[in-house]
Amino acid sequence: MCGIVGYIGKQDASNIVLSGLKRLEYRGYDSYGICFIEKDKHHLFKRVGKIEKTEQDFLNKNFKGSVCIAHNRWATTGLVNEENAHPHCDCKEEIFVVHNGIVENYKELKEKLIKEGHKFSSETDTEVIAHLIEKYYKDNLENAVKRALDDIRGTYGLVVASVKEPDKIVVARMSSPLIIGVGDNEFLVASDPSAIISRTRQIINLDDGEIAVLEVNNIRIYKEEKESKKDIQIIDWDIELAEKDGHEHFMLKEIMEEPNVIEDAMRGRLLDDMGMVKLGGLEGVENKLREINSLSLVGCGTAYYACRVGKYMIEEYADIPVEVDFGSEFRYKKPIIKKDGGILFVSQSGETADTLSCLKEMKEKGALTLGITNVVGSSQARETDAGVYTRSGPEISVASTKAFLGQLTVLVLVTIYLGRQRNMSMVMGKRIIDELKRIPELAKKILKQKEEIEKIAQKYKEYKNFWFIGRKYNYPIALEGALKLKEISYVHAEGVAGGELKHGPLALVEESFPTIAICPSDSVYDKMISNIEEIKARKGLVIAIATEGNEEIKKIVDDVIYIPKTLEMLTPLLSVIPLHLFAYYFAKSLKRDIDRPRNLAKSVTVE
Ligand code: M6R
Repeated sequence: MCGIVGYIGKQDASNIVLSGLKRLEYRGYDSYGICFIEKDKHHLFKRVGKIEKTEQDFLNKNFKGSVCIAHNRWATTGLVNEENAHPHCDCKEEIFVVHNGIVENYKELKEKLIKEGHKFSSETDTEVIAHLIEKYYKDNLENAVKRALDDIRGTYGLVVASVKEPDKIVVARMSSPLIIGVGDNEFLVASDPSAIISRTRQIINLDDGEIAVLEVNNIRIYKEEKESKKDIQIIDWDIELAEKDGHEHFMLKEIMEEPNVIEDAMRGRLLDDMGMVKLGGLEGVENKLREINSLSLVGCGTAYYACRVGKYMIEEYADIPVEVDFGSEFRYKKPIIKKDGGILFVSQSGETADTLSCLKEMKEKGALTLGITNVVGSSQARETDAGVYTRSGPEISVASTKAFLGQLTVLVLVTIYLGRQRNMSMVMGKRIIDELKRIPELAKKILKQKEEIEKIAQKYKEYKNFWFIGRKYNYPIALEGALKLKEISYVHAEGVAGGELKHGPLALVEESFPTIAICPSDSVYDKMISNIEEIKARKGLVIAIATEGNEEIKKIVDDVIYIPKTLEMLTPLLSVIPLHLFAYYFAKSLKRDIDRPRNLAKSVTVE
């Protein structure tokens, strides 16, 4: 996820794009860049870090111009530095591009372009787009952009400008958001309306596959060579709502992004025909990973629960024994370094002090350290021997939701990777991959039930205590459901393994203590039903998360939320979504400060 702003008109663009970029910082804030285009001349400004720290440098440069493209970066390919910040350009510094998305086949395109003599100056996937446009450029920018996009596999919101044709901006979209603002003798481009709403409320939404050519007084939009007629829409939201894509809170926006996060985490990493995955970040330790006989998974909070799900996956499909620890505990126990073992750290921010301190300690002791992180260039990403990025985009809400889905998806990929190095058959690898590819669509189906889930949350809003129960793959999901509820609504919630109820917790069950039971139709379904019956026999209320088509369960429980059927190992990627929604709507009904719950911080950088 990144933010894009562009301007073509008659005014000086510097303050327009600067304020637009600031509005889009929630989409990415590791670096930013601005480029003004004139006839045969450009002015380029790039800096690392938040805009407020360096905006005065930019203003001091006194760049002026009325054709400008700009970008906030959230790194996915390549470290956080000025070279990798957008805009990127071709060899002759004539064509400039800003891009939000992923070019899946960038490595092969880059190799080919280098052989053809192109010189690259960044590690990004985006730079190949600039060189492809250069390759195909013959006096018409939009034709060259069209031709370049034919070679690209992946997603893009793309804005291109050239010093050879400084009277136009070319814009293209495929699965990454991009809108065009229509002003008075001017057009603006942005990743979302918040960046341009102060200048115009008239927007055109670009659709996938469309290319727009913007000139000061003219706009042309094409799809597959044909000109498209588009309606102008009037935005009636305020700026704050626009940043949240029309949602009341970042948490809801981030939950709604969960299907895309799953998709982005696997994009370009599946080798379908071989039942295998390609994880570039693990290539350097491929042989070491072949040799390991045990793994420790370490994380905190939600990331720790992802580790707990990972344990079931890796043990079942890769035949490697896995231990799981909280970062805050692992560091203080006796660390037994196994020569043929590895430690995998999971963290959204890559800056959690409890997790990082274990990483540093284990590194000093010579252990093989691996990481799953969202933030490119974070301390965890830099310190580990090897790792995989989740590519979930910035998570703003303190309660982690979409990042958990990114972590689970990467853990599935790591399981296939390790499994295929060992006993997993190609057929099994293919089966998991085929099913994983369906998950984003199935997740969208669950999100469509958000109104019903809201009604259930409202029905239970007076209750002060909740159990969350699950078994096997869904036991960690019970823990995650309880954490999310207590974190943002401040009611007491506890996750319990279904089978443990009778060993103590059942004593608390009564009418005023409802249970959310995660009971998809899997290998432990019958056992879960026994647990639910134990609760019902004591007059406890039960909300079930069950598999679509299970009508029988309605006879036993008080409310049901359905999720689609999938492989047992993948059910956590679906069963957690209603729990995120339930926690959100429950807290909303209590009018809590959902994105900034009391006493908590997004990144916990103290031990
Ligand atoms: O950035 P990390 O993934 O390392 O953060 C770990 C926890 O602090 C985090 O998951 C926390 O528990 C969330 N607030 C849970 O929603």
